[in-house]
Amino acid sequence: MIRLDKFLSEASPYSRRDVRGLVKRGAVSVNGVSAKAPDMKVNENQDVICVNGEHIIYRKFIYLMMNKPQGYLSATEDDRDPVVIDLLPEEYRHFSPFPVGRLDKDTEGLLLLTNDGQFDHELMSPRKNLFKRYYAELDKPAVEEDITSFASGMEFKEFTAKPARLEIDPDDPRKVFVEIAEGKYHQVKRMCERVGKTVIFLKRVAIGPLQLDGTLAAGQVRELTQEEYALLMSK
Ligand code: URA
Repeated sequence: MIRLDKFLSEASPYSRRDVRGLVKRGAVSVNGVSAKAPDMKVNENQDVICVNGEHIIYRKFIYLMMNKPQGYLSATEDDRDPVVIDLLPEEYRHFSPFPVGRLDKDTEGLLLLTNDGQFDHELMSPRKNLFKRYYAELDKPAVEEDITSFASGMEFKEFTAKPARLEIDPDDPRKVFVEIAEGKYHQVKRMCERVGKTVIFLKRVAIGPLQLDGTLAAGQVRELTQEEYALLMSK
């Protein structure tokens, strides 16, 4: 059992203060009966709670997939630059989601956001060994030897990259797919630099078994389906 105002502040865009006003106006009902006080106890899994007739389903956590556009930081706030949270529709903001891992400001594509610390922790854990797949465009054509260099692992100042996969588009070898196991700072760009190529465009297209939804325009988000959530958690 939890307090009605806590329930609504977690499960709806209304703040606790809003709830006080709504209750006073008789806009909140519990099992069809007008709520008398914001601190009344409700059963979050059983009681039917409505605000202005709209049934509010309780949930604590949110899991979002975003097609991140360029120009946004993977952060919750910043003094100078726009952040991915600025792109979220109002309905998701009260969950206070944060990005799971980071994409560079000029990188596009699949970014997950959640307010579930455990989910974040799981996905970021090196033990999970989730490959991230990127589409990249290079300033020069990639060559066969680059595939071997990527597959051999690379030494960097602060880490050794595990074997990574490089696939070259046979029709245009400036276009490649890269799969990496880690996700260190500028990792794909640094690995490409190591073989003498500069990344001029970068987009993440998959995290482990989860593909970026191709129908999401840049800047759009949607919730993960239960199947997608289960897929990520099962790996
Ligand atoms: N590697 C990079 O270089 N940049 C990203 O944003 C992600 C992976």
